[in-house]
Amino acid sequence: MTAPRHAGARLVVVSNRVALPRRTAAGGLASALQAALCERGGLWFGWSGKLAAETATQVHRLHDAKVDYATIDLSHADHDDFYTGFANGALWPMLHYRPDLVDYRRSHLHGYLRVNEAFADRLQRLIAPDDVIWVHDYHLIPLAAMLRRRGVKNRIGFFLHTPLPAAGLLIALPNHRELLETLASYDLIGVHTARDLRALEDYFLHETGATMRRDGRMRSANGRLFRSAAFPISIDTAGIAEAARTAGSNREIGQLRDSLEGRSLIIGVDRLDYSKGLPQRFQAYARLLERAPELHRRITFLQIAPPSRGAVLEYRQIRRELERSAGHINGKYAAPDWAPIRYINKSFPHKLLTGYYRTARVGLVTPLRDGMNLVAKEYVASQDPEDPGVLVLSRFAGAAQELTDALLVNPADTEEVADALQQALNMPLAERRQRWNAMMSVLRENDITVWCNAFLRALCR
Ligand code: F6P
Repeated sequence: MTAPRHAGARLVVVSNRVALPRRTAAGGLASALQAALCERGGLWFGWSGKLAAETATQVHRLHDAKVDYATIDLSHADHDDFYTGFANGALWPMLHYRPDLVDYRRSHLHGYLRVNEAFADRLQRLIAPDDVIWVHDYHLIPLAAMLRRRGVKNRIGFFLHTPLPAAGLLIALPNHRELLETLASYDLIGVHTARDLRALEDYFLHETGATMRRDGRMRSANGRLFRSAAFPISIDTAGIAEAARTAGSNREIGQLRDSLEGRSLIIGVDRLDYSKGLPQRFQAYARLLERAPELHRRITFLQIAPPSRGAVLEYRQIRRELERSAGHINGKYAAPDWAPIRYINKSFPHKLLTGYYRTARVGLVTPLRDGMNLVAKEYVASQDPEDPGVLVLSRFAGAAQELTDALLVNPADTEEVADALQQALNMPLAERRQRWNAMMSVLRENDITVWCNAFLRALCR
């Protein structure tokens, strides 16, 4: 096999969150990039996770395994405007089809641009002419344009980890063109699915005056050539399967199993975010209990939901809503020796989660919108091949494009989700195995290494 053209070049990954060594990785993006960088080595640049009096007065350096880490602190004000205000108060809801939740303020946009300039400024000093730069996610959309203005000529790729809604929605974001058109400064823009790609191309062609060339590249209104393509992100399939297989000896897994006393476990694991469809999920579970009394005492629903982005109002609201809903369900259906729902607001080590997934008869993953959703993939990879569980998956997660042997549902349809739960709980072993094998072969074919190589190969083509 010939080595890919990017093989000799140093990889520079840039993301807001950096999974620093010996810290719990925050979310799917950080753990996927950690896997990719640990394999090939390179530089990882981003926010240190710390707030200081001023932004980026110095770059913190660290070396571990094959990876150099370079991180900068942000000032409280910059973090508020950039991360809380614009990235998560305006861009996140817009990208997740929730224009009603967009809280757009010009001061937040200015803070977002200020932090991107600070990233560009510090990063420029760290890169060598042959480096291949790979920027991640909605926090850093204008970064390439800012680097180009500083004379950086390297290959620069961008990957969007969220969904991308249709142009008709995107244009509702004030100043959308000023921001989104800067994407043309990248050489390659990657998204998760064909639907996201259609939205991207449609936006460029119809809102910015870009044109599509015969070779598949787009030419922006100011003449820059760039490519876009779909690269569905994945997981370390073999690593997760192995972690789940051996997790069984963990004390915590034994404790969970004992506590179930033979009941079937339904599991959900999500950041506490309105895009994850948690209130609708709780409602569907309540509906199942209402219409299937024979399942009482025979099932337990474990929802793990670590709080996130607590500075944004909607995140505090949804937390209160779920506390009420979980309390209501238990109040209505629990018995002295059975609680139908266990609702936990904390995060768990990754390996332990794989053991929890393997213990669960049903993985319930029902976001209203999700770029990919790696929990769905990890749930599948964690199963016991002899006795696999069933994945109930939202049609609106990117993962539904690949995991077509899951029970696919519309998360807003309470009856449909309750039906799917019932079907999953009653599914015969032969059907469970057949569905699991089909999904597992997809995950073996497209794992995190394949995803990473495919993007870098396209970027360096
Ligand atoms: O694209 C969404 C995403 O970056 C995920 O990859 C990750 O799980 C999550 O957001 C992390 O969010 P935050 O950095 O705000 O905690």
